[in-house]
Amino acid sequence: MDIGKIQKNLKSKLFSENLLIYNSVESTNKTAKENSHLPEGTVFIANAQTAGRGRMQREWRSEENSGIYMSILIKPQIEAENIPCLTLLAGLAVCSALTKAGIPDVGIKWPNDIVADGKKVSGILSELSGTNTVVIGIGINVSNKSFPDEISDKATSLALLSNKPFEREPIIAMVLDEFEGYYNLFLKDGFSGIKDEYEKNCITVGKACRIITPKDEYDAEATGIGENGELEILRNGQVEKIASGEVSVRGILGYI
Ligand code: BTN
Repeated sequence: MDIGKIQKNLKSKLFSENLLIYNSVESTNKTAKENSHLPEGTVFIANAQTAGRGRMQREWRSEENSGIYMSILIKPQIEAENIPCLTLLAGLAVCSALTKAGIPDVGIKWPNDIVADGKKVSGILSELSGTNTVVIGIGINVSNKSFPDEISDKATSLALLSNKPFEREPIIAMVLDEFEGYYNLFLKDGFSGIKDEYEKNCITVGKACRIITPKDEYDAEATGIGENGELEILRNGQVEKIASGEVSVRGILGYI
């Protein structure tokens, strides 16, 4: 990982000063939480993670040099209830960056899986680290040529999607630039500042889906995105809103 190459491609001010590169860490989210006294805009990037984590206690495969594993430290002065919106914001930033990098048909599977060609290419794990301090972990599969059998029908990488090799540094710079743009809109106008853009890119909206919560599992139709990033669904003729957290949404016929 070449820090100079990230900086050369980066327009963002917020993220230009504090890029920290590690060869291997357990999890960049863990490193970021342990260093949450550092200034807003510090970014922790690793070549490999030995205990990369996904949402709902899942593992995040993090082999050396094959993906982007990074965590962004931000300290927004916002109400606690608006913090989940930052995860959606990060998903939107990754979606825009990958689109700008030339990956076709990238979309967001609510709340924050980034998908292309019907498979997941990136995931986000946000964690609170004290009051108004949020760690946003972003994983992007970059040069993986294959995935283990149990996820091969659900996971993809930039290399598989485009049949060409990708450098991680310009992608990191693009994600940080996009994040800063949407973050400024969010700080100014809240989630409504990015809601339309999020909804436009959200492939879950308009689809029949299976909602899986720790207590319950049912079918519904996703009809839109709410003012605070909730998924609006139609269930047995009633409109309901579901917040992210421990909820998983699947397509009726598969992952998407
Ligand atoms: C998911 O889709 O389940 C979220 C995956 C998040 C993975 C990233 S990689 C960088 C950061 N460190 C971690 O341990 N997890 C996040």
